Amino acid sequence: MARISQQTIDLIKDTADIVDVVGEFVPLQAAGKNMKGLCPFHSEKTPSFFVSKERQIFNCFGCGKKGDSIKFIQEYKNLSYVDSIHYLAEKYNIVIEEDEHYERQRTDVNLYKANDMALQFYTLNLLNIESGKPALDYLLNRGLDFQTIEEFQLGYAPNKFNALLTHLSNEFQPLDLMNAGLVNRNSEGNFYDLFRDRILFPIRDEQNRVIGFSGRIFGDTDNPAKYVNTPYTEIFSKGMTLYNLYHATPYIRSKERIVLMEGYMDVIKAHMAGVKEAICSMGTQLTIDQAMIIKKYTDNVVVCYDGDKPGREASYKAIKLLERAKLNVHVVSLPDGLDPDEYITTHKDFETFLNNNQLDQYEFVYQMIVEQKDFRRPVEIEQAKDRLFDFFSKTSGMIREIYLKRFASETGIRYDTLIGDYQQNRIDERILNDYQSKLVRTQQHTLKLPKYETAEKTVLNYYLQDIRYRDLIISRFKLLHFQNKDILTILVMMNAWGVYPDEPLVVLKSKLSQKNNEFLEQVLFQDYEYNQEDLESCIKTLEVANLNEDIKANEAEAKKALAAGDTGTYVRLQDENRIIQGKIKKLEGRHNGQKTNY
Ligand code: UTP
Ligand code: MN
Repeated sequence: MARISQQTIDLIKDTADIVDVVGEFVPLQAAGKNMKGLCPFHSEKTPSFFVSKERQIFNCFGCGKKGDSIKFIQEYKNLSYVDSIHYLAEKYNIVIEEDEHYERQRTDVNLYKANDMALQFYTLNLLNIESGKPALDYLLNRGLDFQTIEEFQLGYAPNKFNALLTHLSNEFQPLDLMNAGLVNRNSEGNFYDLFRDRILFPIRDEQNRVIGFSGRIFGDTDNPAKYVNTPYTEIFSKGMTLYNLYHATPYIRSKERIVLMEGYMDVIKAHMAGVKEAICSMGTQLTIDQAMIIKKYTDNVVVCYDGDKPGREASYKAIKLLERAKLNVHVVSLPDGLDPDEYITTHKDFETFLNNNQLDQYEFVYQMIVEQKDFRRPVEIEQAKDRLFDFFSKTSGMIREIYLKRFASETGIRYDTLIGDYQQNRIDERILNDYQSKLVRTQQHTLKLPKYETAEKTVLNYYLQDIRYRDLIISRFKLLHFQNKDILTILVMMNAWGVYPDEPLVVLKSKLSQKNNEFLEQVLFQDYEYNQEDLESCIKTLEVANLNEDIKANEAEAKKALAAGDTGTYVRLQDENRIIQGKIKKLEGRHNGQKTNY
């Protein structure tokens, strides 16, 4: 079978705009330069799935999935790479040309080979070439020995723009090396090595194939990026990879556990200290995919992150994910804010410490949440309570009862009161979740203009504080069209509880969460001069923006209708848009001093 030509692939990549491709399946909203939405690959309530038009990639900070439009179709439609190309070619009317003469070799075979040859080059540079000496000295100074350096195949990338390119020029075209994530291309079209003057940690997959590298700066440098990683490629995805997993497998089997750390250096030092079942994720937060990979090897995970506050927070997040994969989790908190590498350097017998200082996941989370709270202050009890509810709502009822009883007794609150709050909290969460998922489905775009945000807050202020304007607001603006999440929460909750705006604000405030209360206070205590003109101009801002959004949505729909040959719908939507345009004109005309009475 001939292979799809590179020109065709490039053409598809240029034509299939990522925002368009993703936007067909995932509602996206503007977020600065990017777009965001709810990730289609894992379940989430707040969007962490970003799409960059500029870079033509998607990236989920929640689950780690990322890639270009081809990759998106692969993942979303569960198609192979080639089938995804066919799918996009059809969608964008691109004729697929094949490279008749191309000796068919699967591209991924090439990518593995390129990475492997790069590894040979980099290790050679560290150990046998004069220019790698400072890098080698750095590693030895940090306490590594030659045996470990060779075992982990650490390398050094020379301080040149094309050392690797030149070295591999007989074997690989620059474009192949770019697909392997080893070189970059600048805006003038010139290729250059991605890794320069860095110590390299090769990254291997579960079959022990080198799929990428992470490069650390060392010595005197003003480069701000401590690590540079292989970008997303056909064979490398950070969120799907665990460092040292293959190498650690026999030890994972014999010790029946994985020790999960944060950094490469931690893992290597742990290995030297006899904890050879250590692995780490790739600098990003642990992903659910990684948790599922761990699950294939063992049911037991010991989380050993940095001993400082960020390390504890990261442990908490990791625990939540590991729980979802039904793993037994223990956590070790290292003393004095040390990370495993520093602990091992300054203390003896890391393994004994590790074995004797574990808390199970529930105990760790409970202690972490309450440890810095002052129970003489109700506000702090409330904050701890919210976090406890969040975590223990996902555990078994028995575990929940044990810890909520303990919290009740430690804070002196009656258990019944706490349970009452817990039940209310669950109902509120459900209402909000239902509501937000509906909202995301209906709302294609989010209006994020500062003017719009201020206008929303002002309207809310009027709505809650001045009964004279309430009907005006309701008649002109659908309350559920508010974009601000805090405002929506407040309004949805008012509705759910049957709290009406005429009731004293204190009733509302007593029911809202800490966070919503803070928001409300910030809105209400702004100094407004209540007058109709001010309010009207705010409502107008909201109306015009919403109408513009309607136009955009209609246009997108009309485009689809036209492509599907549905001219009836197309014409109807065009008419609708003309009417909306008219409304906008009228609203803007009203602006110039004319007052309308209500
Ligand atoms: P650390 O800053 O703790 O690095 O980041 P480290 O591994 O302990 O390295 P040393 O001890 O300073 O040499 C933890 C992990 O986060 C990722 C890397 O995977 C690193 O191992 N990271 C960190 C990045 O990907 N990029 C960065 O710029 C920094
Ligand atoms: Mn470190």
